Amino acid sequence: MVLAAGQGTRMKSRTPKVLHEVAERPLVSWVLHAAHQAGVARTCAVLGHDRERVKARLQNCIDRLSLEFAYQEEQVGTGHAVRCALASIAARKANDANPWILILYGDCPLIRSEQLRRLVRETSKSGSDLGLFTCVVENPGAYGRILRQGGRVIGIREYKDCTEREREIREVNPGVYLVRRSFLEQAIDALTSDNVQGELYLTDIVEAAARASGAHDIQAPMTEFFGVNDRADLAVCEQEMQSRIVAQHQHAGVTFRSPKNVFVGAEVKIAPDVTIEAGVELRGQTVIESGAHIETGTILSNATVRQNAHLKPYCVVAESEVGEHASVGPFAHLRSGTVLGSSSKIGNFVETKKTTLGKESKAGHLAYLGDGMIGERVNIGAGTIFCNYDGIQKHTTVLEDDVFIGSDSQLVAPITVKRGAYVASGSTVTRDVPSDALAISRVKQDNKEGYASRLRARFKGSQTPEDANSKTEKPSK
Ligand code: UD1
Ligand code: CA
Repeated sequence: MVLAAGQGTRMKSRTPKVLHEVAERPLVSWVLHAAHQAGVARTCAVLGHDRERVKARLQNCIDRLSLEFAYQEEQVGTGHAVRCALASIAARKANDANPWILILYGDCPLIRSEQLRRLVRETSKSGSDLGLFTCVVENPGAYGRILRQGGRVIGIREYKDCTEREREIREVNPGVYLVRRSFLEQAIDALTSDNVQGELYLTDIVEAAARASGAHDIQAPMTEFFGVNDRADLAVCEQEMQSRIVAQHQHAGVTFRSPKNVFVGAEVKIAPDVTIEAGVELRGQTVIESGAHIETGTILSNATVRQNAHLKPYCVVAESEVGEHASVGPFAHLRSGTVLGSSSKIGNFVETKKTTLGKESKAGHLAYLGDGMIGERVNIGAGTIFCNYDGIQKHTTVLEDDVFIGSDSQLVAPITVKRGAYVASGSTVTRDVPSDALAISRVKQDNKEGYASRLRARFKGSQTPEDANSKTEKPSK
């Protein structure tokens, strides 16, 4: 059972707390993944606040889990949430030979499956009906406090219900429980809301277990269980998750030049021998193949970077593919649908969208290439613009193999420049260019000899006295 019905008031957000993300995955989905990896057969998420939204999001990001939903109309406590889940799984009567139920909170994304397996292993051997983790921490904050007597756990006191002395206890409840189903059903039935918050506390079942079969406790470090209640907690979890993700990639052969200063989403795949520099963000389903080099400040979302490609500093790449040995940037913007062929080159201040660039083709400086189909070995000069939009529709520019586009040309789409053709610098091309032709469309140049000094004299003659004064005040060259 994963409890995720609360709003998370302390987040001060329109988004339900459990949908806030760490490494691009909702908090609750980390918990579900951990349960799944630990071998849990059936999962029931308890939803309540904004439940349709939470449900839709979970169905989007967790496909392979056998996930069920239970509903808690009013969020009147974690014990009540479990009551709702029990009713729901009983109603479904699916194959539940398993006598143990693992209960997790949806706001604790750092839980690892190894810990969950350990809890299952040890509790089922212990003879107790209930097993739980406890953590000793420097600053116990608002966590529930672990009460012990003669060394044994005898209960949990919620922070708000604690006496001053109890608040000094530094052993806290991270909120992970394994409970025998038969015991859980009866203990949840017996819960009362006789506490400061008037809620049904799940934590009260620990005292009931301690009285009956005993509660089996395992001490573990808090880094595994940190719960998110506000934005500061969220940032702590993000930091911890980032260091885990980076460590995993390092272990797999990836170099991070500034490992604390990158962002890597949970779904990103990076091959060995990739080098990633400071300030890089890798988001979504980005895939980076071996030998690639991603320089400072580059942001990749859902991008595929092929072997040995080089992304220079400060590029933004989304939903695009960069071919083998291709080079991009600095300061390039590859928008959705860009596919760069092998050994191609996109230089600084070039923007592309829905454009394929063939093998060894180049656009080195200051260009807009939108809706283009560019062949191999094409050279696109500085300042070239694909005029792809007429205000209503987008049109395609086709440049066949070995075409040369001179600097500062505008290609007004739809248009095709055929194989090997040449467009002269500064041309506005509106008609297709045949193979091997030169297209030139610019006003013929006229040189008027000696005209420059006549012009200067004329301009001086038209100066006002003020202009003349301001001129003399400036230091002369
Ligand atoms: C809870 C524990 C506390 C523990 C802490 C660990 C209780 C009573 N207290 O407190 O001992 O130290 O977690 O993080 O269990 N939820 C529901 N329905 C509800 C209330 C909550 O589904 O009616 C869900 C929330 O969505 C959340 C989780 O349960 O994911 C925990 O609820 P929260 O209010 O954050 O509990 P804490 O006060 O942190
Ligand atoms: Ca909490």
